[in-house]
Amino acid sequence: MSEVRRLLPAPQVVSPATSKERLEERGFDRAVSKVMSMTARDIIAEVSASGIKGRGGAAFPTGLKWSSVYSAAGSPKYVVMNADESELGTFKDRVLLEQDPLGALVGLIIAAYTVGARKAFCYIRGEYRDVEKNLNEGIKTLERTGWLGPERVEIEIRRGAGAYIAGEETALFNSIEGKRPEPRVKPPFPTEKGLWGAPTLIQNVETLANIAILFAHDVSWFKEYGTKDTSGTKLVALSGHIQRPGVYELPFGTPLADIINKEDLGGAMGPQRTLGAVLLGGAAGTFLSPKDIEGTVLDYPSLNKVGAGIGSGAMMVFDDTVDLSWVLTKMARFFAEESCGQCVPCRIGTRRILEIAEAGNLKARSQDLRELGQAMRDASICGLGQTAPVALLSVLDRPELIH
Ligand SMILES: Cc1cc2nc3c(=O)[nH]c(=O)nc-3n(C[C@H](O)[C@H](O)[C@H](O)COP(=O)(O)O)c2cc1C
Ligand code: SF4
Repeated sequence: MSEVRRLLPAPQVVSPATSKERLEERGFDRAVSKVMSMTARDIIAEVSASGIKGRGGAAFPTGLKWSSVYSAAGSPKYVVMNADESELGTFKDRVLLEQDPLGALVGLIIAAYTVGARKAFCYIRGEYRDVEKNLNEGIKTLERTGWLGPERVEIEIRRGAGAYIAGEETALFNSIEGKRPEPRVKPPFPTEKGLWGAPTLIQNVETLANIAILFAHDVSWFKEYGTKDTSGTKLVALSGHIQRPGVYELPFGTPLADIINKEDLGGAMGPQRTLGAVLLGGAAGTFLSPKDIEGTVLDYPSLNKVGAGIGSGAMMVFDDTVDLSWVLTKMARFFAEESCGQCVPCRIGTRRILEIAEAGNLKARSQDLRELGQAMRDASICGLGQTAPVALLSVLDRPELIH
């Protein structure tokens, strides 16, 4: 399978990325007009029928989330675009917002209209200055359409300040509220109590861009790509020992081996190099062996069989000269430094893993690491602590990956 262009604009789209002409060229004016003539329940039914799942990592069904926020008691309500994008090896939201910022913004507007929110936030990674500029210009263009304003929805941009944990939804809310970005205990979930305790819909950039293209077309168009289980396309950020790194938009169901090897995709590893492992889904992801890669496709059920998920869509390719113990030590340091320290299993667990990794004892302490990992998964408050041991455990399950 080859790359497709839906979320990312096709080469024949020539209008400037934040211009009014781009809204027309991409069909986003059509999408907003269509939504304005529909009831909230019909919009949510269409989102559910499309099968869109969240692209921020957890793959939660988007229609279900919209329905919860729509039905939640309370006013005001908020919507948030999560563009914090600090997961290792993940740069797809950046590319998307550079190439087509209006798509995600239009998705945000549709989300706000549907759930009844008058205020929307774009929370962007602090280093993404060009993205911020693009979003500001895009918002100015949208203001001229009459779709924004106090009677409809107002969009405000907030910038992160370099903390990985601020991408976690409840930590992000605290950050917007001017507090330390520490995750909150769930439940209550954001759909009931999010920003300032009000029902809040938070979605990843790519999820919102999918909403814009869905309403610019329709469900059957949307489902032309994908598998029986997962419709549509996925942005994959490919990096590492690969000849053609970059962001590729691929139909769900694309074989992982194609992503790495096809000439028009990753273009293989280069002469005299042999595949060692692939880290799928960033620091919170899973290491796959060359054997796992063969026969696995980009889809949740297929990846589930090898104990992996798609996560944020990052694929980091390592050749067989790389010492994964070294990589795991780096990752352990990352988690120990990025843990907010609020809960003991994560604060102490990430430190203990780092100590064991730095002592070069990964294989010898495998049983201790498994017990530590289980405690962190069971008892950490948020996804950081729950997923911090996942990559490490995936290597312990594949001992052939460590030299
Ligand atoms: C430590 C951590 C960091 C996260 N960082 C991001 C991020 O940068 N962008 C993002 O969309 N989701 C991130 N998430 C997931 C969000 O909490 C949330 O699930 C997501 O924004 C929901 O959007 P979706 O349903 O469209 O995927 C992170 C989660 C954790 C635990
Ligand atoms: S799991 Fe880690 S990052 Fe999450 S709240 Fe606990 S200490 Fe903070």
